[in-house]
Amino acid sequence: MVGTANGSRTPVTPRQAFSIATCALQTDTIIRLQDQLATAEKKLEISDLSSVETRTGYEEQKKLNAELQIRLAEAEAKVIDGEVLRKKLHNTIQELKGNIRVFCRVRPLLSDEGAESETKSITFPTTTEALGRGIEVVQHGQPIPFMFDKVFMPQSSQEEVFTEVSQLVQSALDGYKVCIFAYGQTGSGKTHTMMGTPGSYDDKGLIPRSLEQIFEARQKLKEQGWKYEMQVSMLEIYNETIRDLLSSNKSSSTESSGNKQQYAIKHDANGNTHVSDLTIVDVRSSKEVSFLLNRAAQSRSVGRTQMNEQSSRSHFVFTLRISGVNETMEQQVQGILNLIDLAGSERLSKSGSTGDRLRETQAINKSLSSLSDVIFALAKKEEHIPFRNSKLTYLLQPCLGGDSKTLMVVNVSPAPSSVNESLCSLRFAARVNACEISIPRRQTSMRYLEPRLSYG
Ligand SMILES: Nc1ncnc2c1ncn2[C@@H]1O[C@H](COP(=O)(O)OP(=O)(O)OP(=O)(O)O)[C@@H](O)[C@H]1O
Ligand SMILES: [Mg+2]
Repeated sequence: MVGTANGSRTPVTPRQAFSIATCALQTDTIIRLQDQLATAEKKLEISDLSSVETRTGYEEQKKLNAELQIRLAEAEAKVIDGEVLRKKLHNTIQELKGNIRVFCRVRPLLSDEGAESETKSITFPTTTEALGRGIEVVQHGQPIPFMFDKVFMPQSSQEEVFTEVSQLVQSALDGYKVCIFAYGQTGSGKTHTMMGTPGSYDDKGLIPRSLEQIFEARQKLKEQGWKYEMQVSMLEIYNETIRDLLSSNKSSSTESSGNKQQYAIKHDANGNTHVSDLTIVDVRSSKEVSFLLNRAAQSRSVGRTQMNEQSSRSHFVFTLRISGVNETMEQQVQGILNLIDLAGSERLSKSGSTGDRLRETQAINKSLSSLSDVIFALAKKEEHIPFRNSKLTYLLQPCLGGDSKTLMVVNVSPAPSSVNESLCSLRFAARVNACEISIPRRQTSMRYLEPRLSYG
């Protein structure tokens, strides 16, 4: 029934009743859906809020990460700078001390020495103080310790060795006289260290690497107004005779020419060495020098001994003269780089030498013993230093007794059968390390005040 304005009631039709019921049902549904929508909207609002929060957090983390990365890079750069500074300071201290620096390099055991590897004759102490600088030779089960400026273990690469001498080499461009020489028993790795395999990327030695560095640095210094001229000479001392390795005349030596004045060694007041009649070649690139090095290597006296298939039977002296001028700074510098591969010491009984080889061995041993006489006299600060007793010591006089920056690399074999020789070499090296020479001096001048320094 449906009520009317005057109170009378009209009966509800079934159709109307159905509509009313449906309407009530839909109203309920709408209310429920509105509730659900409100809840969903609330949830969305909350999740929007948390997504903004997450995003902000992520951005903050990203920023922090970037900041930390920058700080890490800065810290790493500081460590590298610190290491460079430490090396520089170490070098400066060494220079101020004025002594000849010594690096020791132990070569790996060779394949034919494999059987000997059971007993270790060389060990490396691991204490903080001796790490990288100490070496022990084990004789009759007893370790005999030595300490040098640096010790390279058998696994050290040619590059690692070069990295340690690169600053020294570089200083030749600043006007210093630099001398690096390799000393050691025959077959201990001197030629490998100095020359290596010149064409090979990994195996090339100190000489080719030094030249590459010098020519690269020359290119960089050009931008600062420096112009450099370089000249190369190479000689060997074979049986107390100087041979010019760059001479086109094959038999060039004092012996064969009969001319006593040829290849006479002279030192001038500036401590520069001149060898008369020696071929001096102007060079403009490390490629040109490599070509000359190959030529010299072919002319060098090499022989086969029981101890070394390719034994150097002479002392090899490579000299690079560097002359730099900077017009803007009105400065000029004169540097010299001497790189020397000595012939190896060996005991006659062990070498099995006869004939020519015996004569060579005797000459090598004589000049090396003159070298040790000079070192002993220098170490004891004697008044008379017997530089003139051999061609080698006379030629090296400015490096041993002068104001050059000198480094000796003592090469050692790890073979137990070489223990006695290794001990001899290391004892000699320790003496060399104790030798005080003058503080290195740069050869530099104001270009227009003193136009040319005397040098050969
Ligand atoms: N660090 C090294 N790594 C690998 N092989 C090496 C190393 N040092 C030396 N050798 C090898 O040992 C052998 C002897 O080395 P090297 O000819 O350099 O000796 P040396 O001291 O110059 O001898 P010598 O006084 O008789 O001329 C060579 O076959 C060389 O290749
Ligand atoms: Mg050699």
